[in-house]
Amino acid sequence: MMGELEGRVALITGAGSGLGLATARVFAGAGALIIINDLRAEAAETAARLLGPKHYAIAGDVADEASVTAMVADVAARFGRIDILVNNAGIPDSFVPTVDQTLAHWQRLIDIHLTGTYLVSKTVAPHMIEQRSGVILNLNSIAGILGLPVRTAYSAAKAGIGMLTQVLACEWAPHGIRVNAVAPGYMLTPLLAKLIEDGKVDGDRIRRRTPMGKLGKAEHVAEAMLFLASDRAEFITGVTLPVDGGYCAWGAPSDAYPLENFPSV
Ligand SMILES: NC(=O)c1ccc[n+]([C@@H]2O[C@H](COP(=O)([O-])OP(=O)(O)OC[C@H]3O[C@@H](n4cnc5c(N)ncnc54)[C@H](O)[C@@H]3O)[C@@H](O)[C@H]2O)c1
Repeated sequence: MMGELEGRVALITGAGSGLGLATARVFAGAGALIIINDLRAEAAETAARLLGPKHYAIAGDVADEASVTAMVADVAARFGRIDILVNNAGIPDSFVPTVDQTLAHWQRLIDIHLTGTYLVSKTVAPHMIEQRSGVILNLNSIAGILGLPVRTAYSAAKAGIGMLTQVLACEWAPHGIRVNAVAPGYMLTPLLAKLIEDGKVDGDRIRRRTPMGKLGKAEHVAEAMLFLASDRAEFITGVTLPVDGGYCAWGAPSDAYPLENFPSV
């Protein structure tokens, strides 16, 4: 059986680990040729090797215009097309109170998440416009939808990515390009594992606050991205799909899990 993404060329930023790497695996399994970008050249090489010989690694900083221009030119010259772009590269916030944060810290988060998503999208789009087809997937977060104290720049950047997703979807729909986002909840990737280990995030409290009572897996996000990247989502553009076990849906003033919190059910 042909894979759903057979013959497609997919560029995934920050795919040296976590959600990006899981997405690379799932997309490769569906037949796509994957270009793994990461700031860490070695992580990108290792990830591409893991996927197999036809896949390709390219180091680069999504927040740096010259780096993005060189990366996209290299990919276009080598493979002749870019069918799917996943704007996944990211770093966590510092969890320092806003009044104690430095402007440099704010700027770095905005640069990588929001400007990076903008920059890579606008550099890849001319190739998609020429092809008259393409799919762009952005990484939003529950932090871009709900207010999470001390995650100031990260949340603002992610909320910006939510609107960027809508704006670009509207602008590029006539060119056959779909632009969507996923908003993961708490996914047990190396990024979150480190936050839990450092005591910045409490894993048990998150489980209690999540209607489905557990942390997500990278594969949950990857499968949602596969759907949005595939032709099965051909009439879907401009949306942000939460992949969060119901976290954003919960509004009652109590824990969401376990069931004894629901005395009348
Ligand atoms: N893990 C979660 O629970 C979660 C939840 C919501 C959203 N997200 C978002 O998903 C994305 C991936 O997160 P993850 O948990 O897999 O993190 P991760 O740290 O495992 O992976 C992120 C990758 O991005 C790379 N990177 C960082 N800055 C870069 C840059 N300037 N240019 C290129 N690559 C760069 C890192 O080297 C790393 O390999 C991020 O955008 C993150 O904000 C994660």
